[in-house]
Amino acid sequence: MQDAYFLYHSIGQYPGKEADLARVMAEFAAVWGAANDAQWGWVLARRAAFVDRWRGILNAPEGSVTTAENVTQAVHMLLTALPPERLRGKRVLVAADCFPSNHFLLTKLQERLGFTLDTVAMRQGSPWVEDEDFLAQWGRDVALAILTWVSSTTSRRIDLAPLVAHGRAMGSIVGVDITQGAGLLPFDVTAPEVDFAVSTSLKWMCGTPGAGILHVAPRLIPDCAPELRGWFSQPDPFSWALDRFSYAPDIRRFDNGTPGCVAALASLPAMDWHAAQDHGALLAQNRRQTARIIAAAREMGLDLVTPEPEDRRGGSVMLRLPGEAAAVVDALRAEGISTDGRGRILRASPGIVTTDSGVDLLIEGLKRHARG
Ligand SMILES: Cc1ncc(COP(=O)(O)O)c(C=O)c1O
Repeated sequence: MQDAYFLYHSIGQYPGKEADLARVMAEFAAVWGAANDAQWGWVLARRAAFVDRWRGILNAPEGSVTTAENVTQAVHMLLTALPPERLRGKRVLVAADCFPSNHFLLTKLQERLGFTLDTVAMRQGSPWVEDEDFLAQWGRDVALAILTWVSSTTSRRIDLAPLVAHGRAMGSIVGVDITQGAGLLPFDVTAPEVDFAVSTSLKWMCGTPGAGILHVAPRLIPDCAPELRGWFSQPDPFSWALDRFSYAPDIRRFDNGTPGCVAALASLPAMDWHAAQDHGALLAQNRRQTARIIAAAREMGLDLVTPEPEDRRGGSVMLRLPGEAAAVVDALRAEGISTDGRGRILRASPGIVTTDSGVDLLIEGLKRHARG
C-alpha cells in the first residue's frame, strides 16, 4: 500500500515510478545491446540531462555539477582535489549530527591530508548540534567546514545563511550536504553562495542508488586538481598523448575514467517527473501532513526530536521511542505502514504518494504500538 508510505528520507516514490524505471531500463537494454555505434551518444546525452536537472534544483551554473556514486564519494572527490596546503595543519569542522559516513571518511583522510577533524558536540540531552556552538568553534584555522543542511536523525534544519557568512569571514571552504532537503525545500548554491554541495537523487527526487552529485563553485574549480583523474578529466577525453594530460577548465576535471552513466539515466525519468511538479504544492502537502503527525505525537506524549517550527525542519518527523524503534517499525509494517528506525528514533517522512488517510493510519498505529 502506498497511502501509508513514510520513507522519503530514505527512498522517494512517485506515481508511475515502477513503469518509468522499467521503460528506461528496457530502452537502455535495447540501445546497449544493439550491434551498432549508437550507445555512447544516447547514454552521455542522458547523463548530461540528469546533470542539467540537478543544476535546476541547485540553481547551479553550467559546468559546476557532475555525477558521483554517492555523497561520501563526492566529499572524497572534493577533499582530495584541494591544494594540500589548504588543509595541512588546519581544522576541518563538522557537527556530531552530520551523516556518519562523512565522519568515517574524514577521520581516515585526516591521516594522509594532515588536517585535524574537529567535531562539534551536541549539548547534554540535545539530539542535534546548535548553530551557535558550531559558530563558536569555527575560527580562522578552519580550512573547510561541512554543513549538514537537514539532519537524517532529527530532520532539524540549520540556519544556513549566517553559518555560510561566518565561514566566508573565516576564509574557510564551506560545503553543504543537502541530501535530506534537496528537492523538497528550495535551495540555491548562489544564495548564500557555498563552495561545494553534495547530494544523492534517492530521496525527494525519487531517483535510484548510485546517482549522487557534486557541485563545486566555479571560482573554486581552478584551484582543484582531483587526485582521481583520467581521460574524462580532460577538455577532450580523446587526448591520449601520455605527456599532455590537462584538466578541463570546469567541473569535468572531477570526472575520471568512463563515467558510470546507468544510475543517472535510470534516475532521469524521476528527475523529469520532479521538474514537472508544482514544488510549492509538494512542500505544502508535506507541511500539512508533518504538522498533523507532530500534533498527534504531542497529544500522545511521544518524545518529538524534530523541531516544531516549519523553518527549522526538513520533511520528516522523528520520534524517540521508549525502546528500540525496530519492533514498532515491524508492527507498523504488518499493518501496511512504511517507516524505519535508527536505534530508538522512529522516522516518518510523508511525500507525494502519502495520503491523508495514510497519515491517519500512522497516527492510529503509533497510538497502538509506540507508547511503550
Ligand atoms: C544527510 C545525509 N547525507 C548523506 C546521506 C547518504 O550518503 P551516501 O550517499 O554516501 O550513502 C544520507 C542518507 O540518508 C543523508 O541523510
